[in-house]
Amino acid sequence: MMNAKTLSILAIVLWLAGAATVAVMYVGGKTEQASDGRVAVILSEAERDFVLGEMRQMLASVQGIVSAVAEEDMNSVEKIALAIGSAEVRNVPKPLMLKLPRDFKIMGTDNHLEFDEVAAQAKHGGKAVLERLGDLMVTCVACHESYSLKAE
Ligand code: HEC
Repeated sequence: MMNAKTLSILAIVLWLAGAATVAVMYVGGKTEQASDGRVAVILSEAERDFVLGEMRQMLASVQGIVSAVAEEDMNSVEKIALAIGSAEVRNVPKPLMLKLPRDFKIMGTDNHLEFDEVAAQAKHGGKAVLERLGDLMVTCVACHESYSLKAE
């Protein structure tokens, strides 16, 4: 028979194991080494579709900003950049966030925040916008070099 003390120790051990699992997942996410040398982040099919949808939206935003700069339409630059900026981060589902490796999360979040900064450059003209956008796209390139996605 288990006495109360054994039971409470067991409960604490189980709780710690659970907390440790969550902590490890938070830092490492769910990943495996991919054949091309990158780290593949393992997601459900729906989560992968969500991330790739966000990606295509970001590409469309970059296209829209470049074209708006060419037309010297700074209002559109600001509008397009703000729409994909920090406001967009709130749309990422929490369970998906938990599956992302820490570096991926940081780069992904920074990337959206950087669009806010592109929007802020609109009042300084096209060159300032393109300079900031060029810097922002260093993050796109860096993340694509490190990570791929895999549906489980
Ligand atoms: C935090 C990491 C990260 C950042 C930052 C990031 N991407 Fe991605 N992106 C990925 C991953 C991972 C994939 C999937 C690649 C794969 O599986 O080979 C992807 C895929 C894409 C795709 C393909 C979408 C599809 O439907 O297949 C596009 C387009 C794209 N990204 C554009 C961008 C642009 C533009 C930026 C910057 C404004 C950007 N990404 C920033 C991680 C990132």
